[in-house]
Amino acid sequence: MINCIGVLTSGGDAPGMNACIRAVVRTAMARHLQVKAINQGFDGVMNCDFKDLQARDVGGIIQQGGTILQTARCKEFYTPEGQDKGLKNLRYGGIDAVIVIGGDGSMRAAMALHERGFPVIGVPASIDNDIWGTNMAIGVDTALNTIVEAIDKLRDTASSHKRAFLVETMGRRCGYLAVMTGVIGGAEMVLIPEVDTPLEDVAETIAEAYARGKTHAIVIVAEGARFNATAVAEYLDKNAAALQTRVTILGHIQRGGRPTAYDRLLAARFGVKAVEALSEGAMGQMVAQTGREVALVPLAEVTSRQRGANLDYYRMGKMLAK
Ligand code: F6P
Repeated sequence: MINCIGVLTSGGDAPGMNACIRAVVRTAMARHLQVKAINQGFDGVMNCDFKDLQARDVGGIIQQGGTILQTARCKEFYTPEGQDKGLKNLRYGGIDAVIVIGGDGSMRAAMALHERGFPVIGVPASIDNDIWGTNMAIGVDTALNTIVEAIDKLRDTASSHKRAFLVETMGRRCGYLAVMTGVIGGAEMVLIPEVDTPLEDVAETIAEAYARGKTHAIVIVAEGARFNATAVAEYLDKNAAALQTRVTILGHIQRGGRPTAYDRLLAARFGVKAVEALSEGAMGQMVAQTGREVALVPLAEVTSRQRGANLDYYRMGKMLAK
């Protein structure tokens, strides 16, 4: 029987995490369940950093980026000893079940709790959109909007100077953000970890774009691609000296900001579903967007694979750049 749910955010923060925490707390209240905040991700589990959360504690946060619970990447919880200790702490803290809001590493930590028989539900939240089993994670849409806004601005100055901009996006080993912003931002080319692109092809693509009458070139380089934006620019400066190149590394700007309407709605739906699932006896599952529905996907499946960029969109972006 579940009376008290612990909620934590873990891994890299993502816009919409706060809206999800709010949804978890308010849904639990509606079901007469108690909620405890676990601060700083799994570090909070290791240090018994627990605090009661009431409805008013999550007021005024729906529009805020970041996470009021703070987050961390906890190495200790990845060891069996750490997991045993964490489990003891949760039980000692009177927590009967945990909702883990985070990325793929956090889903693996949630899986470890599940394997020890502890009720847990995962909520996917990571700008990378590399979590298997869900079409979208919380934070992705806001990050896409941030990147596109940057590309639009860079195109203005790129056109004025007839320059080629190399724009580096986040994503760790997944090219999702780069591919999608390539399509919606109208980039000439996208370099991603999933496709090995020789540097000569970059020089050729930019030269061809100019030959077709373009006044600028935007090349999006995903984190994790074989060459980063700086390396590509160095190559172009040496081997295609006629091109004027500039590098923009968007960095952690992509992780901040007010969550978009889409992310707030997704966060609300995921938070509600996570509490409903726990109170109906589900365990070891992740809430996920599959088509139009919010469904449950076993954590065992989620953690068995990693999601990569959709190459249909990669090809679409290439065609539309002509
Ligand atoms: O997982 C989100 C993410 O922003 C990745 O895109 C990136 O590789 C990583 O986190 C950066 O982590 P940190 O905030 O620890 O520098």
